[in-house]
Amino acid sequence: NPVWRSVKSVSKVIAVIGAQWGDEGKGKIVDLLAERFEIVARYQGGHNAGHSVQVGDQSFVLHLLPSGIVHRGKTCVLGNGMVIDPKAFFVEADRLTQQGIEVSPERVKISSRAHLIFPYHRALDHTSEERLGNEKVGTTLRGIGPAYEDKAGRRGIRTADALVSDVLRSRIERNLEDANRIIEAYGGERLDADEIFKEMSVLTERLGPFIADTTHYLNVAATEGRSILLEGAQATLLDVDHGTYPFVTSSTTVAGGAIIGTGLAPNRLTGVLGIVRTYTTRVGEGPFPTEMLEGEAELGQMIRERGREYGASTGRPRRCGWFDAFATRYAAEINGFSSVALTKLDVLDTLDEIKVCIGYKLDGKMCESLPAVSQDLRRIEPVYATLPGWKSSTLGTTEINSLPANARRYIEFLSQQIGTEIGLVSTGPERMQTIIVQDSALGSWLRDSSVLI
Ligand code: GDP
Ligand code: IMO
Ligand code: MG
Repeated sequence: NPVWRSVKSVSKVIAVIGAQWGDEGKGKIVDLLAERFEIVARYQGGHNAGHSVQVGDQSFVLHLLPSGIVHRGKTCVLGNGMVIDPKAFFVEADRLTQQGIEVSPERVKISSRAHLIFPYHRALDHTSEERLGNEKVGTTLRGIGPAYEDKAGRRGIRTADALVSDVLRSRIERNLEDANRIIEAYGGERLDADEIFKEMSVLTERLGPFIADTTHYLNVAATEGRSILLEGAQATLLDVDHGTYPFVTSSTTVAGGAIIGTGLAPNRLTGVLGIVRTYTTRVGEGPFPTEMLEGEAELGQMIRERGREYGASTGRPRRCGWFDAFATRYAAEINGFSSVALTKLDVLDTLDEIKVCIGYKLDGKMCESLPAVSQDLRRIEPVYATLPGWKSSTLGTTEINSLPANARRYIEFLSQQIGTEIGLVSTGPERMQTIIVQDSALGSWLRDSSVLI
């Protein structure tokens, strides 16, 4: 069995992880790096993700499919840690096909161990948010949380189970009995098991050819020295354990999740690339210490417009705030970033001054680590450093030395604060609007070596 052979040549297996509350530009960076990889895999989340890719004048938004799909000839994997709504999968696949992208079982493999999202998960997501009232999470209402609840509750239906008609029917009947009780108790409309069974049988049958043992596939690929890019969705501060609980998503978004959500052995990972924006955004509810509020609301609005900060999945306006170096250091600690890609430099081009949160104060004392309780996070007083802006356009810049001195100073300051090199700077949404910092570990890794450490 090739999986048990010792790994002689180290294959490139890199995880790309959002360091903030999502939408850092993971799609753009994964698309950019995908050229250097043979396989691109998602390992958690579902169609709550919205990853944008722009190539020339063509734009793509990926929800379930890895951003590598845009590159011809790359194999894309939807790992076991994901929750998959088959209807959403085919909507996305059909739209991509119309855009000239091949979405076939030859190049797209869905884990036989991934869990499915059913219509009752969506209904339960709505009910749960309504029940919470003012305390709601502000989820994407895609059924993500309820599907992961069923997984942990050992009631979930996995892709491979759904191919067995009897199993699919009996599990739908059993799960719907409980779901309907909750839905009805909160004034929702009862769902019909027969209808769900019929709809899901058709969809899962169509899904059949895509379903594979991706765990085995990926481990064999790694053993053979093939390169694998692991694309995180959501981000560190939305992680179910390490995020700002309970205002989080229901999956493991951090680098450790890339192992669990693909079945790749931990020693396969040869690097972790953190994706960090030059400022911070958050969609939905939950604490956000550096949010631009009150006196800064106008600034927040300006950044939202310049950065086009509207959800790629739900269209909701994103809340905007200053760069939070304290929270990003925490993300670097948990994920062990080998390098960082800094995105959206151009969005700050017009600012006179730029604030960076360098520490958290709670009840008059500096915090040593991120408070675990969300009520405490709401009371944080951010401690800011203020840097001068550069007041000129960086849009589309491709050389670090062509950047204004204050922009370079800002990048250097963030790198010191995070404690990690910045190996790539993004200066626009388009693939080519990118600076690779040549004398960084990422730069040299992109040139030749296989280990990014
Ligand atoms: P993801 O969820 O992390 O993949 O990020 P999203 O795609 O949801 O949001 C990032 C948005 O910023 C998208 O609209 C990207 O096209 C855009 N974007 C990425 N990098 C840059 C950049 O450097 N500058 C600008 N102006 N936009 C960028
Ligand atoms: P990408 O991959 C930003 C947020 C929701 C909500 C919380 C829980 O594009 O960065 P869920 O539907 O997952 O149960 O919602 O998580 N959220 C995201 N915010 N970007 C995302 O994905 C997100 N996916 C979920 O807004 O606050
Ligand atoms: Mg997004």
